[in-house]
Amino acid sequence: MARRPLIAGNWKMHFTAAEAAQLASSIARGCRNMGDREVMIAPPYTAMAAVAAAVQDSPVLVAGQNVCWEKEGAFTGEISPVMLKDAGASMVILGHSERRHIFGENDALVNRRVKGALLHDLVPVLCVGETLEERDAGQTFAVLENQMKAGLADVGAEEAGRLVIAYEPVWAIGTGRTATREQAQDAHFFLRGMLAGLYEKKLADTVRILYGGSVKPDNIDSLMAEPDIDGALVGGAALKSESFLRIVQYTA
Ligand code: PGA
Repeated sequence: MARRPLIAGNWKMHFTAAEAAQLASSIARGCRNMGDREVMIAPPYTAMAAVAAAVQDSPVLVAGQNVCWEKEGAFTGEISPVMLKDAGASMVILGHSERRHIFGENDALVNRRVKGALLHDLVPVLCVGETLEERDAGQTFAVLENQMKAGLADVGAEEAGRLVIAYEPVWAIGTGRTATREQAQDAHFFLRGMLAGLYEKKLADTVRILYGGSVKPDNIDSLMAEPDIDGALVGGAALKSESFLRIVQYTA
């Protein structure tokens, strides 16, 4: 089953609107003839409209870094799916480990966000991943299973078919310590099996599962050679067009 690879850049809390638009323009220029792959960038909210304008004649997709489930109301500090779409986003990163571990977001909250995004036709990129302590304690698959089950609670098959999953081991994010391709493949295989169990195999075969955690120009090719790795969610190396475009242009 062919899954279209997706290379996604998570800009986190970087760049003013002008800086972001400049980087987005150079990424858009570099992505003119991408052919078989999809590219997504997630700027900070304040730069989203400028980024969307900069990539509008290119195939580059724009994503939020989080989203509320309500379309408006008394939710100080949140952003609504309607607002994200209005600013040019078609996708949204949810349950990122920095949201979970720095800002205390739990699975129930992530699940509300996933459902809200789907309801408003934003494609969620649902992030899951274990900490180093959990891995060392042999709990990796149990943690992934809990995050998947809780994150996808009450998400029907039709909606689940639109999801993207990102496996991001917490110990590999921003640390320069990438999971080996075998560790990543094992986790992706497990996650795809979970999707088959929660829904059906046919659906599991179409959902893209990205790897994230210190993806760089020098490790993307070997990661993408693994059968269940369908793309990457890139942080640090997405902040410069040269390294990000090299990742986009991986050869597996
Ligand atoms: P990193 O971040 O590539 O800097 O490790 C990945 C992420 O947080 O999505």
